[in-house]
Amino acid sequence: MGSLVKEYLCAILLLLTTVGASEAAFFIFGDSTVDPGNNNYINTIPENQANFKPYGQNGFFDKPTGRFSDGRVIVDFIAEYAKLPLIPPFLEPSVDYSNGVNFASGGAGVLPETNQGLAIDLPTQLKNFEAVEKSLIEKLGEEEAKQLISEAVYFISIGSNDYMGGYLGNPKMQELYIPETYVGMVIGNLTQAIQVLYEKGGRKFAFLSLSPLGCLPALRALNPNKENNEDGCFKAASALALAHNNGLEAVLTSLEHILKDFKYCNSNFYNWLDDRINHPSKYGFKEAVNACCGYGPYGGIFTCGGNKKVSEYKLCENANEHVWWDSFHPTEIIHQEFAKALWEGPPFSVGPYNLQHLFFNFSLHDKLADILDGPEGDHFQ
Ligand SMILES: *[C@@H]1O[C@H](CO)[C@@H](O)[C@H](O)[C@H]1NC(C)=O
Ligand SMILES: *[C@@H]1O[C@H](CO)[C@@H](O)[C@H](O)[C@H]1NC(C)=O
Repeated sequence: MGSLVKEYLCAILLLLTTVGASEAAFFIFGDSTVDPGNNNYINTIPENQANFKPYGQNGFFDKPTGRFSDGRVIVDFIAEYAKLPLIPPFLEPSVDYSNGVNFASGGAGVLPETNQGLAIDLPTQLKNFEAVEKSLIEKLGEEEAKQLISEAVYFISIGSNDYMGGYLGNPKMQELYIPETYVGMVIGNLTQAIQVLYEKGGRKFAFLSLSPLGCLPALRALNPNKENNEDGCFKAASALALAHNNGLEAVLTSLEHILKDFKYCNSNFYNWLDDRINHPSKYGFKEAVNACCGYGPYGGIFTCGGNKKVSEYKLCENANEHVWWDSFHPTEIIHQEFAKALWEGPPFSVGPYNLQHLFFNFSLHDKLADILDGPEGDHFQ
């Protein structure tokens, strides 16, 4: 290959790398796993809020922000890796949407029936996205707004509340639907939400699949038949999470074939976390059963913060040694490690695209790198 051609290709490559940096906006939908403080602005119960101590105690933020963690949550790390600023909550006053915005709300479900009136459900989060779309068009003009929307990454982390409070905590729902039907409804509605975003122009999607819900300290504490299973986790809850994850993966695989240019990143968060719960020391954790902040068996009574019905709570010394921060939520370090896995994960565990590919569009980049790496690639140092 002529050296001029090489120089030319090299210039394109460089250009792509620089242009790629922080070009893509980041839109986030979901529940307390990714809420950055939207619930600070709604009327709800203290169980759905986290804007009080000891939330945020690790000092990354100068005060509790509403994140259900000792510090950051997964999307904060992803924004950092993508060279974006922190993505603000939608309800924060006078927010700039040009890097994206976060619609997530603690307690939210895919189904509007889940925690109705106490959180911003997924259909409402989608309506809020419409408002942002309008505002972007006003600010940037139709053309540029469309481009921003089509190049953005859409992160969705939701479903746990539909199974915990929405189904296992709701005898009426259990009477109406067998588990399979209920999972089908959640997945059906989630699929519709993905399609709505696709129709609006979204092309790049990423998902945080559900964790082994039965091993959350709160669910361990509620486990009705501890004698029957040696690991102490609430089996029915984990089974729902597994069924949901399998359903979602099947839907994504088929959407990839049906919807032109639809690209996604999904992962097996269930097995990833399960491995840490069962072999904590292998991953540098000392405690994977009990919550750092909570009360009673396993720290599973959700009193962290002391402003709920029961006001006693215990707090561990070093949250970094724990998998679980409170009765329902993992510690910042779990968020960070999983963000890293999604960002750079190999195709067999994270895929078909990892987040780095979605944000920086490596496909074109890789192709050029392949050309440059041809037989004469040795000269090209
Ligand atoms: C969506 O959920 C509702 C219950 O909120 C259910 O009646 C409906 O069948 C679900 N839709 C799909 C496509 O599964
Ligand atoms: C990367 O960009 C090309 C050209 O614009 C596009 O066809 C492709 O789908 C993009 N890849 C990803 C992963 O977004």
